[in-house]
Amino acid sequence: MSPNLGTDVAHAAGILRSGGLVAVPTETVFGLGADASSPAAVARIFAVKGRPRVHPLIVHLADADHLDAWAEAPGNAARALAAAFWPGPLTLIARRKAHVLDDVTGGAATVGLRVPSHPVAQALLRAFGDGVAAPSANRFGAVSPTTAAHVLADLGTDVDYVLDGGACDVGVESTIVDISGAAPALLRPGGVSREAIEAVLGHALAIGSSTPAPGTLPSHYAPHARVVAVTADKLAATTAAAASDGSTVAVLAPAAALASLTLPPGVTVVALPDDAAAMAHGLYAALRDLDATGVAVIVAALPDEAGLGAAVADRLRRAAGPRRDEDDHG
Ligand code: TXA
Ligand code: MG
Repeated sequence: MSPNLGTDVAHAAGILRSGGLVAVPTETVFGLGADASSPAAVARIFAVKGRPRVHPLIVHLADADHLDAWAEAPGNAARALAAAFWPGPLTLIARRKAHVLDDVTGGAATVGLRVPSHPVAQALLRAFGDGVAAPSANRFGAVSPTTAAHVLADLGTDVDYVLDGGACDVGVESTIVDISGAAPALLRPGGVSREAIEAVLGHALAIGSSTPAPGTLPSHYAPHARVVAVTADKLAATTAAAASDGSTVAVLAPAAALASLTLPPGVTVVALPDDAAAMAHGLYAALRDLDATGVAVIVAALPDEAGLGAAVADRLRRAAGPRRDEDDHG
């Protein structure tokens, strides 16, 4: 067992207070947490992740009551969304209060806020008593970690302490909604479905926003293997084409899409559950496991985009996106 892995929440809160880094399980993915009010602690997040300083961090709060301490005049939509989905996998981008560090927001006039529901994250936030800045606990450009073992594989002892908490329930990152402008806008599909958010708002969500979200550019969730994302009807032909030059190929698809598929010999087949939430839960571990086999190409089936299917399809498209260093974000 790794020397920096454990379940001691009081110890973890002490590390945060002294400017250290704690990896914490949330219901979405593991976060790499630091005291959001300490420039030096926040700087260590960027150093350890290898992430450019301009990419803003989400501040995690214990309770929706803390919204007003970090957001300037949040407004009715923000309050309704916080009441409906916090604690839970929703991040709100709000106009920031003056005390919020430029180190956290990348100099933006807004701040990302989230109240996670995972009991270990909740316990840490309550023990620490203030905002914890945390991106996903992976190196820049890698797939987000959904177990403590994934965190240790990526970051090793560069993180002072890793709180164990089992496998993350949701398995993909939070939904990001920008409520800083005139109308709420969806910046990243995630653990709360767009349908559920629209039901609370009583109207359709705009897509994207004038606020730049650098971390939502292509190739954010890339394994080492080349990923090709296609609709289920193109799986067989795409796999055959990828394998035709002798490349090692794996197919990652919902079980139903695999049922009647004829594939070339030697292709590794990994079935995901058909249910979108179960698919999201296992997605990153499946990508990591496949990557560990050293396969050259992963042909992934894009699921139906209802509910959490939208987040799964979004992450697969990003994993299949261009691998240019300048837009590789994690
Ligand atoms: O589920 C999650 O959201 C996880 C857990 C740990 O909470 N966190 C996470 O953080 O995914 P990260 O840093 O890997 O992704 C956060 C995204 C980035 O794309 C970042 O650009 C965007 O949120 N973001 C944060 N603050 C923002 C802001 N003020 N304006 C626009 N985008 C922002
Ligand atoms: Mg990330």
